[in-house]
Amino acid sequence: MGEFTQEIHGVVITFFSTASAVGKTLISTNMASELARQGKKVCLLDFDLQFGDVSNYLQLLPQRTVYDLQQAMNRQGSTVRAEEYLTPYEYQNVVFYVLAAPERLEEAYNIEADKAVEMVRRLQNVFDYVLVDTTSTFSRLNLALLNLSTIVSFLGIVDFIPTIKNMKIGADTLKKLDYDKNKIRLILNRSNAKTRISIDDVEKLLGEPFYHILPNDFQAASRSIKEGVPLVLRSGHTELGDALRDLVARYTNRVYDEPANMDVSAAESWLTRIFG
Ligand SMILES: Nc1ncnc2c1ncn2[C@@H]1O[C@H](COP(=O)(O)OP(=O)(O)O)[C@@H](O)[C@H]1O
Ligand SMILES: [Mg+2]
Repeated sequence: MGEFTQEIHGVVITFFSTASAVGKTLISTNMASELARQGKKVCLLDFDLQFGDVSNYLQLLPQRTVYDLQQAMNRQGSTVRAEEYLTPYEYQNVVFYVLAAPERLEEAYNIEADKAVEMVRRLQNVFDYVLVDTTSTFSRLNLALLNLSTIVSFLGIVDFIPTIKNMKIGADTLKKLDYDKNKIRLILNRSNAKTRISIDDVEKLLGEPFYHILPNDFQAASRSIKEGVPLVLRSGHTELGDALRDLVARYTNRVYDEPANMDVSAAESWLTRIFG
């Protein structure tokens, strides 16, 4: 039973926030690209099931989606190879794989949290990194994803008071889930956008400093989306592209603890305890 007989599991990084349009998809597509550029085997799961943007950001036309994978799992159980339901993203020599969000709303509505968890676990056996893009709610699915993640990138922007209030609720809730301290990484996006609220004040309110800060660069961000090429893969430097690369460097220089192993119903009872 030494280290040599242990199964290798890919690192799961989930991108989460309590407000929408804070950069989850922009950052997750760039992290997937940068890790793949470094030679890692990477997949990116679009679990923003109803309004997922990953395929749009990367200009992919997926033949199969998370819905098809769930259907196959229901039919064939453990014989399904999840990796066959992924769509490759390729740019020059860089390749990573995307599990696309369902095409239709009713399909999205019918994805089950337990099945989604099983998908992540299976893909963890095949990939070095499984990145998970999510929505901005403490849903049953998201809680399950937060639980099984190695790292949770909790993203926020400082714009209006309500956004900050929700960031505080989110950060406090994540703390109460009692994960390993290194698991939750607070990331501030669009840091130098025009605002009257100081980052210092927000850090005081949250009770801890931001792990990483990304600059605001609307032009670079929108150009990369329009062209379907993440910033870190484009030639020429942008401040935002450099900051995204730095973020990946910080993530990959760490030794990770094993993720907490909690099932969906346990996660749910946690939430009931917190909010109940
Ligand atoms: N650092 C940034 N600077 C400027 N614009 C950004 C930055 N990060 C994200 N954006 C823009 O903000 C919008 C929302 O980003 P997105 O990644 O789709 O958010 P989310 O996935 O959290 O809803 C997009 O139009 C994107 O181009
Ligand atoms: Mg998104």
